[in-house]
Amino acid sequence: MPVGEIRHNIYSVGAIDWDRRLFDALIPLPDGTSYNSYLIKGSEKTALIDTVDPTMGDVLINHLNQLGIENVNYVVAHHAEQDHSGALPQVLGKYPQAKVIVTSRCKDMLIDLLMIPEERFVTVSDKETLSLGDRTLEFIHTPWVHWPETMVTYLREEKILFTCDFLGSHLATTDLYVTDEGQVYEAAKRYYAEIMMPFRTNIEKNLRKIEEYAIDIIAPSHGPMYDKPEFILKAYHSWVFDEPKNIVVLPYISMHGSTHKMVGHLVEALTKRGVTVKQFDLTATDIGKLAIALVDAATVVIGTPTVLVGPHPNVVYATFLANALRPKLRFVSIIGSYGWGGRAVEQLAAMIPNLKVELLDPVLSKGFPKEADFRALDNLAAAIAEKHKEHGFA
Ligand SMILES: Cc1cc2nc3c(=O)[nH]c(=O)nc-3n(C[C@H](O)[C@H](O)[C@H](O)COP(=O)(O)O)c2cc1C
Ligand SMILES: [Fe+2]
Ligand SMILES: [Fe+2]
Repeated sequence: MPVGEIRHNIYSVGAIDWDRRLFDALIPLPDGTSYNSYLIKGSEKTALIDTVDPTMGDVLINHLNQLGIENVNYVVAHHAEQDHSGALPQVLGKYPQAKVIVTSRCKDMLIDLLMIPEERFVTVSDKETLSLGDRTLEFIHTPWVHWPETMVTYLREEKILFTCDFLGSHLATTDLYVTDEGQVYEAAKRYYAEIMMPFRTNIEKNLRKIEEYAIDIIAPSHGPMYDKPEFILKAYHSWVFDEPKNIVVLPYISMHGSTHKMVGHLVEALTKRGVTVKQFDLTATDIGKLAIALVDAATVVIGTPTVLVGPHPNVVYATFLANALRPKLRFVSIIGSYGWGGRAVEQLAAMIPNLKVELLDPVLSKGFPKEADFRALDNLAAAIAEKHKEHGFA
């Protein structure tokens, strides 16, 4: 990607990672990602906002060279995670005078992670400002989006909010700004679900905090910028604040088809009762799709055969992840098939202490499901539909 000009003397100088398919060795990236870095030249000082992944430091340096930047006074490090800070040593080597602007917590983490010498840092308190001459940066502490040290930066004169991971999306694109809202909505929701949702209470506070500012552009450090900030703010509002929807998410495994048959029956029974169902075969699904579905769902029904006394390991993985992501679920149930006996239900129920949910009666079938099992699934569907109606989930 070439350097992009945002305003006079404000540039996008980061890197696009088209081919990356996994983040944190965990999160699928179907559309790649970008590590956005921004350069702001004031009449007196120059600041770089975040750097890039250490694998792409040369792209950033090349962009700075193209712009003929001989001096950088400040590098703002919003977040210590290496996809934004990893090229800091390279940048600090090129600009020996540059100071790193951080929260005090971020300073400690960057010393731990990247061994950056203590004298390179300047710590800033919440809402502290820094003048670049004709331009002013205001640093707003926004802890836990998604690490404890995070902050964002408001460029007052241009009303640009640089948010790093907060409000970002994993999406490789040459577009500076959002063009395809549908595509960015999905990518940003995936990002929220996987990275931000576990910290929903902090997200709430930080959303309220940044909404006190007049914002023309939101410039995150992943994905395109938002020149219509209300698009992403409205989306976050609904993900964070809205009641769950009339949706059941149904992740399952079936080795020989019994649990699968039960899943099929339950999906029909729920659909007939006006409940939306999202079914995920865990051998095939992109786990990010499951995370996205969890953002709005009121209920999860986990489908598993009994394997070596417990749930199938893939189901354990998905359940562990759902518990860690802390979606706003209200109800959980478990269905599945067993051969002779086991503890699949007890083991799964013990795995979800973070979910403040009511456990609805599970349905277990011995071998292939039979008439009584189908009736039990009908009852479960009726109970779920009733609960959703009672709570007004639409
Ligand atoms: C590797 C393996 C281990 C199993 N371990 C158990 C077990 O510990 N307890 C049990 O009741 N059934 C066990 N079963 C039997 C399955 O739970 C049973 O066949 C069930 O109907 C499979 O459901 P499915 O068709 O949805 O895969 C095991 C099956 C396999 C293949
Ligand atoms: Fe991060
Ligand atoms: Fe990031």
